[in-house]
Amino acid sequence: MNLDAMLRDKRVIVLCGAGGVGKTTTAAALGVAAARAGRHVLVLTIDPARRLAEAMGLKENGPEPTTVPLERLYADGPHGEGRLDVWMLEPRIVFERMVRKLSATESAARAILDHRLYRFLSELVAGVQEYAAAEALDGFLADGHYDLILLDTPPSRHALDFLEAPGRLARFLDDRVISLFGPDSGRTGRLWQGAQALVGKVLDGIFGGGFAQEMRTFVGAFGGLFAGIRLHTERLREHLTSKDAAFLLVTSPEAAAMREATFFRDALQARGLPFAGYVLNRSWAREDGLAPAANLKPHANNSADNDAVLALEHLAGVEDARATAHRSLLDRLAEGLPLGALAIAAPDAGADLEDFRGLVNLGDALTVA
Ligand SMILES: Nc1ncnc2c1ncn2[C@@H]1O[C@H](COP(=O)(O)OP(=O)(O)OP(=O)(O)O)[C@@H](O)[C@H]1O
Ligand SMILES: [Mg+2]
Repeated sequence: MNLDAMLRDKRVIVLCGAGGVGKTTTAAALGVAAARAGRHVLVLTIDPARRLAEAMGLKENGPEPTTVPLERLYADGPHGEGRLDVWMLEPRIVFERMVRKLSATESAARAILDHRLYRFLSELVAGVQEYAAAEALDGFLADGHYDLILLDTPPSRHALDFLEAPGRLARFLDDRVISLFGPDSGRTGRLWQGAQALVGKVLDGIFGGGFAQEMRTFVGAFGGLFAGIRLHTERLREHLTSKDAAFLLVTSPEAAAMREATFFRDALQARGLPFAGYVLNRSWAREDGLAPAANLKPHANNSADNDAVLALEHLAGVEDARATAHRSLLDRLAEGLPLGALAIAAPDAGADLEDFRGLVNLGDALTVA
């Protein structure tokens, strides 16, 4: 399978890799390519570089995905069937939507959202961004509005923890905490009540009077959402381990990034997630180097020109060596790939990425490889 076929077949493609290698850019370029190939695409992005956000006309903190105008998506020809939406992952909005969806009534939702502990909680839980990504992805997959979702991930070794993040949230407020603070703990032993009173006193002492009671009402309300949260996690896990999903590892030619790619490949395998291949980004593997040195002919009798030719020869040699090195990196990535997985080189687009056209070109370069 090539990348073009993958963009047509899959329902969700997740991009992982070390910091700064081009995950967000690749997600955007692939989104553009898939939309131009006729699919209804959502790119779920995290913290895009300013020029990328501008190129896509992305609104910050928008409550809904932004649709890339058709004149921009199809600037070079007739409008096709495909559509491209982009959404910048905003944990606050994702959580609010989740609480609303899982609460029985609007007033039950408000009781949670208006609680001052709610804000506290959403900042306290480790991996908030990963969890928000999981929740958002699950929501968009479940509502079936898009043919393909491209998920960008944060620059962290924990990027794949998003499947476990809801579990962690549940652990944070796990049954023991709930039973300690929940409204009907059902525990009546004297020792237990003593513990409850003591913890309450300590918390009141630290955070001010009434805190323990406040915590109790909050945990009581929030605890009711756990069953729904667990269901979402299970559903998402099913989607992401199915043949509809693909995980692409993005790397740059730098040794540290290549090592991270190996780390992620092992992490995918350990979680039973479908590894679909590597993108060697910003590489010279596809270039054939500069003009071969043989094209540079020294002029007789002009030493200034000859010096320039010698300098160019040197530069051509450097470029050539770099292209050769990148090609062998690509070969290394291609070794031992599972059946159907890819190793693709993406060119360095340089200043070309300033506008949407640059993304179109990068998407084309990736899909014809
Ligand atoms: N193929 C490319 N050609 C030229 N510039 C690129 C290319 N890919 C990425 N860049 C540039 O490299 C920088 C980092 O790219 P990007 O933000 O996509 O990386 P990232 O992996 O998402 O980073 P982070 O880990 O911080 O989220 C950006 O300025 C981007 O424009
Ligand atoms: Mg990024």
